[in-house]
Amino acid sequence: MANKKDEERLSYMLGLLGRKRESQFRVDPKDQEQPGDDSEYEDIYTNHQKRDMIQRIANPEYAFNPVASLIEDHYVSATRNTQEDTEMDILEAYKENPKLHFDRDSHLNYIKRSLESKLPHYYKSLDANHPWMMYWLANSYSLISDEPLFSDIKELINDKITRCIVRDGLGGIAGGSNQIGHAASTYAGILALVSTENYELLDKIRPNLYKWYMSLKLPNGSFRMHVNGESDTRSTYCVLSVAALLNITSEELVEGTAEWLQTCQTYEGGFAGVPNTEAHGGYTYCALASYFLLYSHKKEFSKENSFDVDGLVRWAVMRQYGIEGGLSGRTNKLVDACYSFWIGALYPLLESITDQSDLFSREALGHYILRCSQSQKGGFRDKPGTSVDFYHTNYTLCGFSICESYFTLEDKEEKEDKEEKEGKEEKEDNPQKPLAFALKYKLVKGDISLTKVINPVYGIPFELAQACRSYFITKDHENAS
Ligand code: FPP
Ligand code: ZN
Repeated sequence: MANKKDEERLSYMLGLLGRKRESQFRVDPKDQEQPGDDSEYEDIYTNHQKRDMIQRIANPEYAFNPVASLIEDHYVSATRNTQEDTEMDILEAYKENPKLHFDRDSHLNYIKRSLESKLPHYYKSLDANHPWMMYWLANSYSLISDEPLFSDIKELINDKITRCIVRDGLGGIAGGSNQIGHAASTYAGILALVSTENYELLDKIRPNLYKWYMSLKLPNGSFRMHVNGESDTRSTYCVLSVAALLNITSEELVEGTAEWLQTCQTYEGGFAGVPNTEAHGGYTYCALASYFLLYSHKKEFSKENSFDVDGLVRWAVMRQYGIEGGLSGRTNKLVDACYSFWIGALYPLLESITDQSDLFSREALGHYILRCSQSQKGGFRDKPGTSVDFYHTNYTLCGFSICESYFTLEDKEEKEDKEEKEGKEEKEDNPQKPLAFALKYKLVKGDISLTKVINPVYGIPFELAQACRSYFITKDHENAS
């Protein structure tokens, strides 16, 4: 028999886990409805109730209709309670928005309005994220507009990023004027400059950025976010992705990086930010995208010291939920439209490695995006009940673009053999060309799509990433000859 102190300790530990001790098993719903019942878990819905609701909204015209899990989970916790509430909110949203409709004009208006007017006061907490806001808005626009960015908007973006560049790039790009350079702001600032195709400015800062990145490199192969800052899979991806775009990757820059990344994969199969912490969508995206920047051949994924691809596939497929259709960022957490990219982009990358084409339901994610996350007034939100913002608008559109395309990897060995036989020399920097630039795409619906195809390793239009890298490769070839 446990003594009082042990009991207290146990209650405390269970409290930390979010479990109500007396209610280890779910109370019968009839009992929960008793007047005066003060259970915290009154609102838990049964699968029967969910199925009832699902039946009422089922639409035989759709390839996707929500499905409740076959297994009923009797474990009571606050986490489960919020999951059940979210599922019911989402079923309501499906009922209220029975149509699959993409409101391009409203989104373009929202983006233009956001770029042209002063930021609302509640954006002040983003004062260290100016390059991010430029990237989110410029990119959202590029993804859905047939027109190039207006010249005054381009000027505004270039001007804002220029004011964040520290010592011509020797200190990176900061989140705002008079702040210190940060690898994530640098990544966002560079993507914004790629959107405006400002190669002149990119060319000016790229040799200095290389020096700055080398100064952020740690002996374990990862990179710091900033001088004296933390290092994780995010900072590592931010450095590698910019280096590949600007063609400044070197053996010295990437030494030990793949080996370090591998230590971040957890027992669940996803990746954490640093070793021995929890697998999460954002960090997993950064890790897998980094491998596509480090590896040049598909066969490198089967190396002994590479990560466990099957484990990652397993973890990734568990992120899509049957009722929501949308994706969560980690085990036992809620759906959120921004994971349409952080998790959504894992699927085409994994599909290209494993030669599969349907690791997730593109239809189901499309339904979540258009019917639960889209606002008719323009922009996209995390989930019903939350407000639209620039961040969710960008990553939801990126996720939607992923639903509209399939990706495969160029068969390099075959291509090289053929070229050798034909005596051709590959124009690109073969054999070091990263897999990120060996991706090929095909539209799901033949030749129709509502968004531009993105490069899943970058979250920017496929052609923009390609054009930037090709520009610097050609320039470096010319300088070398
Ligand atoms: C929420 O965590 C965190 C996010 C929604 C963003 C995660 C994204 C990254 C870490 C990637 C960053 C990438 C770059 C390139 C810098 P939470 O704990 O609030 O949400 P949860 O409950 O969904 O886990
Ligand atoms: Zn989110």
